Amino acid sequence: MASRITIIGTGYVGLVTGTCFAEVGHQVTCVDNNIDKVKMLQAGGIPIYEPGLEEMVKKNVSEGRLKFTASTSDGVKNSDIIFIAVPTPPQDDGSVDLSFIEKVAREIADAMTEYKIVVDKSTVPVKTGEKVAETIKRYNKGNVDFDVVSNPEFLREGFAVEDLMNPDRVVVGTTSERPVRAMREVYEPFKAPIIITDINSAELIKHAANSFLALKISYINAVSIVCEASGANVEEVATGIGLDDRIGRRFLNAGLGFGGSCFPKDLSAFIKIAEQLGYKFDLLKEVQHINAGQMDRFIKKIEETIWVLKEKKLGVLGLAFKQNTDDVRMSPAIELCQRLVKEGAELRVYDPKAMEKAKDFLPAGAQVTYVDDMNAIGEGCDAIIIATEWPEFKELDLEKARKDLSHPILFDGRNLFDPKRMEELGFIYKSVGR
Ligand code: UGA
Repeated sequence: MASRITIIGTGYVGLVTGTCFAEVGHQVTCVDNNIDKVKMLQAGGIPIYEPGLEEMVKKNVSEGRLKFTASTSDGVKNSDIIFIAVPTPPQDDGSVDLSFIEKVAREIADAMTEYKIVVDKSTVPVKTGEKVAETIKRYNKGNVDFDVVSNPEFLREGFAVEDLMNPDRVVVGTTSERPVRAMREVYEPFKAPIIITDINSAELIKHAANSFLALKISYINAVSIVCEASGANVEEVATGIGLDDRIGRRFLNAGLGFGGSCFPKDLSAFIKIAEQLGYKFDLLKEVQHINAGQMDRFIKKIEETIWVLKEKKLGVLGLAFKQNTDDVRMSPAIELCQRLVKEGAELRVYDPKAMEKAKDFLPAGAQVTYVDDMNAIGEGCDAIIIATEWPEFKELDLEKARKDLSHPILFDGRNLFDPKRMEELGFIYKSVGR
């Protein structure tokens, strides 16, 4: 049965969730307080690059199941279930800024005249649901009945539509029967196992999941250091341990470390939450430490090979924080470029999708040239660096690259090439952990 749903916040999570809900037949209103963004969406524009999203938005808008508005109160009035998907940015001390959540809770309370289910989809610290419930109660003048549910989202950027349409599980945190029934109807078309928990556990599942995945990456990165020191190959080690079902091969790719708007932020937040609850989560501090060290070690490797960076010309492939996205927030590739520029290097940079967004953090100028052809990256350079795991970089014309470079040096921060083949092609090839 179709549910009437409103999603507040049209960022990555809100926009993709709303669109996928419409795709399976629900009636969806997406609300955003940024009027320009709403106008853009109403006119068929999409503010982010996400494979498959644009077509799906257009289809559902034209079939009348998906609409956009800047009015929270219209959104609240027109729906039975209100999802909150607004940003929860980090603060300087690692804790989470919950002011957008609080504001939306007040706006919902203000507009609510009959029973509503208020679902938090944003990543929030444990016990936020309790606060949201208190806030709605305090600001709703009519003493209207409502339920608060926690429903964390596990989509990955770059695979958002695919992840949302095929979730491996749906977590629903609530202790009341009525929202459980409603949430089962919302998620029934997705055919995924639905786990019902209390609100606090659902909120914790999100931070615990992201921190565990970050831990897995730091673990393999730490193993990569031992591999380099001993002459072993981290890819082979990852495959060897990953075939054990209890471990799994995914998220065991060593490299420049993790970035993005989720792992770094959620790790800091989880450490802070634990601290506020009286536990020092030193294990996760070490995860952060290893992650920062990966970048230092990679830059050291570049310096050990080409010595002084000042006036060296380097071609960098990749600016996004990972493949399949134009997102450059907390991107290891951008951090790498900024550090190389600081050392006086001159960069030629290329990314299939993220060049426009990258310019805000890495302006074009005397030291940075944006190149629009991947195969031109090495022209006039001393070395090529791979900073993001875009699969198309594997198709780089290596013959041309070797001829373009003053010396055939390639630093691979994402282990895209086979070291033996690179050696055969005449490259001085340095990757991570092998
Ligand atoms: C992550 C989680 O994977 C999602 O489940 C979660 O919903 C999301 O955060 C969120 O909280 O919103 P995302 O940040 O989009 O998703 O990207 P990931 O694919 O997890 O990659 C994160 C970073 O880890 C990237 O910089 C990537 O390059 C790096 N990574 C990933 C590695 O260095 N090695 C790996 O093996 C995997």
